[in-house]
Amino acid sequence: LAGDLEAALDLIRDVPDFPEPGVLFRDLTPVLSDAKALGALVYGVAAACPAADVVAGIEARGFLLAAPVAYGCGVGMVPVRKAGKLPAVAAKVSYALEYGTAELEIAVGAIQPGQRVAVIDDVLATGGTAAAACELVEQAGGVVAGVVVVLEIAALNGRAELEGYQVTALRTV
Ligand code: PRP
Ligand code: MG
Repeated sequence: LAGDLEAALDLIRDVPDFPEPGVLFRDLTPVLSDAKALGALVYGVAAACPAADVVAGIEARGFLLAAPVAYGCGVGMVPVRKAGKLPAVAAKVSYALEYGTAELEIAVGAIQPGQRVAVIDDVLATGGTAAAACELVEQAGGVVAGVVVVLEIAALNGRAELEGYQVTALRTV
């Protein structure tokens, strides 16, 4: 199974100069569209997940993993959404983008007080997105059990933003 996971991660496609010149886009869609690789990836993320009452996925690419992982682990899934999508917002956190800021929101009632939440996303780059999601979970009354990402880009040092949290990456580049 470990070999299957490595083979699955090898399918991640690096696309230069997207969405802007100088940025190397890490594209997981070739992993998702391959039945065996998708299974290995979901299994790998689930195996790396800390014990939790619920799995939170970060819009949009984190959704693709968090829902099957939550299902596999037998727990619920909570979407961490970009601003303006939820009818009833329990908490909102701003985070820095390369240009400007963005906001993440979580729905009223999505997390029960004291629930342990595993936060899942595809890529950890600067860490701003994952750090905002963790803050959001806490504002909503949850406890962050840990953060799991498929790919960590070490040079961008996103871990520094996540001090105090258990962070697991299936692959670090
Ligand atoms: C990408 C990626 C992570 C985030 C990582 O999402 O899916 O969520 O960036 O970057 P950071 O560590 O520097 O914050 P993006 O905001 O491009 O949106 P998407 O998932 O909706 O495609
Ligand atoms: Mg994302």
